[in-house]
Amino acid sequence: MDESVTWWNFDEVEKFMRDGFEAIGVPAEEAAVCANVLIAADKRGVDSHGVGRFKPIYLDRIWAGTQLPKTNFEVVKDTPTTAVVDGHNGMGHYIAKRCMDMAIEKADKFGMGMVVTRNSTHYGAAFYYANMAVERGMIGMTTTSARPSIAPTWGVEPMIGTNPMTWGMPSDEAFPYMPDYATSTTQRGKLELYDRLGKDLPDGWVIGEDGKYRHDTHQVLIDLTKDKAALTPLGGLGEDFSGYKGYGNALTVELLSSALSQANFMKALMGVGPDGKPAPIELGHSFLAIKIENFCDLEAFKHQVGEINRQLRASKKAPGAKRIYTPGEKEYDTWMFRKDKGVPFNAPLKAAFKTVKEKLNLKNDLPF
Ligand SMILES: NC(=O)c1ccc[n+]([C@@H]2O[C@H](COP(=O)([O-])OP(=O)(O)OC[C@H]3O[C@@H](n4cnc5c(N)ncnc54)[C@H](O)[C@@H]3O)[C@@H](O)[C@H]2O)c1
Repeated sequence: MDESVTWWNFDEVEKFMRDGFEAIGVPAEEAAVCANVLIAADKRGVDSHGVGRFKPIYLDRIWAGTQLPKTNFEVVKDTPTTAVVDGHNGMGHYIAKRCMDMAIEKADKFGMGMVVTRNSTHYGAAFYYANMAVERGMIGMTTTSARPSIAPTWGVEPMIGTNPMTWGMPSDEAFPYMPDYATSTTQRGKLELYDRLGKDLPDGWVIGEDGKYRHDTHQVLIDLTKDKAALTPLGGLGEDFSGYKGYGNALTVELLSSALSQANFMKALMGVGPDGKPAPIELGHSFLAIKIENFCDLEAFKHQVGEINRQLRASKKAPGAKRIYTPGEKEYDTWMFRKDKGVPFNAPLKAAFKTVKEKLNLKNDLPF
């Protein structure tokens, strides 16, 4: 396989995606948000949830008719501090951004705001929405359900999504505190990345129906949709390394994302209809914003967040370990490295963009 990488300017790639979304009927305002969320992931090195998903998740679903390009954003219940939104199977990034905007506005007025969502679609990397609150001097939290992938502890059937619960807190450092990850040992985007790179899966990530580890990346991605493979919960198989804690966290996210908004859950998110054909995956999310100044001085809070993180990084290292990180730090390092380089395109990604360019007859300066 051609492993060579071409770096391409962030703004050009973002514009390409904006144009692509618009060309298949996504209104300009929504297209701009969707492209911005995707490129933000690549800027931070979250390559599993960036431009690599532009075609295979979003465009392909719109082409297949399982996701609507134009969002009908309906607020079905609204109070000063809470709201329930129905996204009517529109564009998940756009729905999520508007929901977090609402939560932030409520928090600004009343100290806290929470918005829950039903019938949304895949919203990408969760940090984007938590970070919106951080940029307003607030704590942000978001959860989303996802297609069932994780087997419960002692099970082998994929039942619960990779369900991230992502928090963001402002800090006096150059980057916020931002633990942003799935509640499974790994997540589908990373399997897709391994697939694009032609790499086998390591032990510990995926089990088959016999409960044994699987490594055949491409077939695993197919079998996950047929109940023949499952991801392990955070903590891993069985109880020895407390996989039941990851299972419990994934379940908490499923409940927060679906029970308050009365969204679909678990097997209803398989993306396969009774006729075996692709069907909409209508997800639930939750968004929480907390106004820090209603509790303490914002600068004092930021200093304490920074101080706790600094003390952790300065603590005694394991023999041979070069560095202790805190959540959000690696993404900042990646941004520092990439900001003048852009997005790394490998051969499969170039091919996907070329297909889109030809199919939608896009005019731009991308060389593939
Ligand atoms: N929309 C969805 O359905 C969905 C589902 C699952 C995951 N996701 C997204 O996928 C992305 C990647 O998720 P993931 O589970 O692969 O994340 P990951 O395993 O790559 O972990 C990334 C997080 O861990 C932190 N981290 C990494 N190494 C660290 C260390 N040594 N010390 C301290 N912190 C460290 C990072 O700063 C970051 O916050 C996230 O943006 C997540 O929101 C989305």
